[in-house]
Amino acid sequence: MTDRIAVVPGDGIGREVVPAAVEVLSALPVDIEFVEAEAGDRVRDETGEALPEGTVEVVSGADATLFGAAGETAADVILPLRAAVGGYANVRPARAYPGVDALKPETDLVFVRENTEGVYAGIESEIAPGVTTLTRVVTEEASRRIAEFGFDYTEARGDDVTVAHKANVMRTTDGQFLDAVRAVADERGAAHEEALMDALAMHLVLRPEEYGVVICPNLAGDVLSDLAAGLVGGLGLLPSANVGDDNALFEPVHGTAPDIAGEGIANPVATILSAAMLLEHLGHDEEGARVRSAVEAVLEDGPRTPDLGGSATTEDVTDAIVGRLG
Ligand code: NAI
Ligand code: MG
Repeated sequence: MTDRIAVVPGDGIGREVVPAAVEVLSALPVDIEFVEAEAGDRVRDETGEALPEGTVEVVSGADATLFGAAGETAADVILPLRAAVGGYANVRPARAYPGVDALKPETDLVFVRENTEGVYAGIESEIAPGVTTLTRVVTEEASRRIAEFGFDYTEARGDDVTVAHKANVMRTTDGQFLDAVRAVADERGAAHEEALMDALAMHLVLRPEEYGVVICPNLAGDVLSDLAAGLVGGLGLLPSANVGDDNALFEPVHGTAPDIAGEGIANPVATILSAAMLLEHLGHDEEGARVRSAVEAVLEDGPRTPDLGGSATTEDVTDAIVGRLG
C-alpha cells in the first residue's frame, strides 16, 4: 500500500532539513508518494497567505505530514496544521546520544503533552486599561484522551509514567486533568506517579534518569520539554509528533534558525528522527528502527554539523545517515 505523505518544508532551514529527511525516507523500501505544499513567510510574501487553503487540503488528505518550520508566521501556520490533523497528542522525546556532548547523558524522556486545551487555547481579554484576563478550558474528555494515549505509548515502550500538574493551586482545572489521569490509570491497573510541575522541573535537571514518560497539560509540556532539550545537547536533535485519531504531523522542535539558514550547515537529525516517528506511526516499525540506528551511528562516529562541534554540512550528515541505513 502506498503511503501519501504531505511534505511542508516552510521557511529557513526547514527548506534544508526537510529535503534531507525526504532523502532518507526515499532510500528505504517503503512505498511513499510525497506531495509538496507550501506554508510560512515565503508563501505569504508571494501570495498574501501564510497557510493557503490548498496546503490544508493536502495535509488533511494525507496519511501523515512532515513539516519543517515557519518563521514569523509560525503561530498562523502550525496551530491550524496541528488542528487539521486532529493532533491532540504532542509527543516530544528528549534523549541523549553517545557521541553528543550532553549536560545529562543519562536522559531518555518522552513528553506526552495535551495539545488542544489549557492556556494556549485560552481566551485572553483586556477587561479594563491595564487589567487583563485569561480563561482556559480543561475538559474531562480531552484529559482522558491524552491519558489513554500516554498509557498506550508507555505500554509499548515499557517505562514509568509521571503526570505533571499543579492541582494544589489550580484545583479545578488541573484538578480535572489529574482526576482524569488517575481514573484512566485505575481502569487500566497502570502505575503512575504524580509530580507538581515546578518541583518536577528541578528533579528533571538533577535526576532525569528517574523519569520515563511524562504526561503534561499543554503549557507545562511546552516548558518541560524545552528544559529537557537543554539536558541532551540542543534543538538540532529533537523530533516531535502531533498525533490524532487518523492523521498526524511530524516536525522538528526547532524553528527556522535564521542565523544559519541558507548556509547548508543545519543539523538534519531532528527532522530525520521526526521521519522515523512518522514511519513507526504508519506501521513501518522496522524501517523506523533502521533510521534510528543509522542516526545513532552517525552521531557517535560523525560527521557532525557545527551545532554539535563538527564542521560537516547538512548534506554530509544526510549522506552518512543514508549510507548507514544497513
Ligand atoms: P530556532 O529553533 O529557529 O533557533 C534557535 C537556535 O538554535 C539558533 O541559534 C539556531 O541556529 C539553532 N538551531 C535550531 N535548529 C537547528 C538545527 N537544526 N541545526 C543547527 N542549529 C539549529 O528558534 P528561534 O531563533 O527562537 O526562532 C527563529 C524563527 O523560527 C522565528 O521566526 C520563530 O517564529 C520560528 N519558529 C518556528 C517554529 C515552528 O515552525 N514550529 C518553532 C520555533 C520557532
Ligand atoms: Mg516551545
